[in-house]
Amino acid sequence: IRRITTNTVQEMKVRGEKISMLTAYDYSTAVILDGAGIDVLLVGDSASNVMAGFETTLPITLDNMIYHAGSVVRGTKRALVVVDLPFGSYQGNSIEALASAIRIMKESGGHAVKLEGGAEVRESVERIISAGIPVMGHLGLTPQSIYKFGTYTVRAKEEAEAKKLIEDAHILQEAGCFAIVLEKIPAKLAQRLSKELKIPTIGIGAGQHCDGQVLVVNDMLGITKGFRPRFLRQYLNMYEQITGAVQNYIADVKSGDFPNEKEQY
Ligand code: KIV
Ligand code: NA
Repeated sequence: IRRITTNTVQEMKVRGEKISMLTAYDYSTAVILDGAGIDVLLVGDSASNVMAGFETTLPITLDNMIYHAGSVVRGTKRALVVVDLPFGSYQGNSIEALASAIRIMKESGGHAVKLEGGAEVRESVERIISAGIPVMGHLGLTPQSIYKFGTYTVRAKEEAEAKKLIEDAHILQEAGCFAIVLEKIPAKLAQRLSKELKIPTIGIGAGQHCDGQVLVVNDMLGITKGFRPRFLRQYLNMYEQITGAVQNYIADVKSGDFPNEKEQY
């Protein structure tokens, strides 16, 4: 099987083939998603929420991200594995940003990094790319800045914020990003950007015109309970299915039905 590369996803945009991306945080899930044929796996810092139970993405560390990323890489043969630079590992300056990106590449075997922001991170993006490490941008709702915004609502509905986002997207493209995630922005704005930019846009809550789509795997599989934003299509209800399976197991243990004659030595 040939590995998807950053060039492959750029060719997909040219061909008009949509790019499929999901998050992954562990080996066993990565094996399933890769085997199913996903194009890109994102080791998102959403691991802070769905794996570790934190309220925001801020607490997860670079060491934590490297652990998750290494597990995902070992579970893939085909998918391009992109790893989030966590909060605090790149905002200081571009030298720190490069050092963090290098640790991810060396210690996890990931194929690219992602970081949040536009003009503010331009120098860091350029320095990381100069070292030969592909960078994915991330604009719109940027959860690492949640305390600056105060809410997780749709971004760039106002003209001034939309203008800044368009400028930031072009800055990231000029800086050399191979793709940009657009999170929770109006579909119209994402459509304009997807047309204007040469690099692919990957949307989450950004509408049908993006060059690709990404979802948090725990959300689309219905493992996360009670999280049903408008942009999320839930393909399974694993919360209910796992609850049922576990209740059956408990009942079988309590009744003495498990293990039976055939299930013992
Ligand atoms: O961490 C994450 O899951 C992400 C995606 C939502 C794009 O950054
Ligand atoms: Na993220």
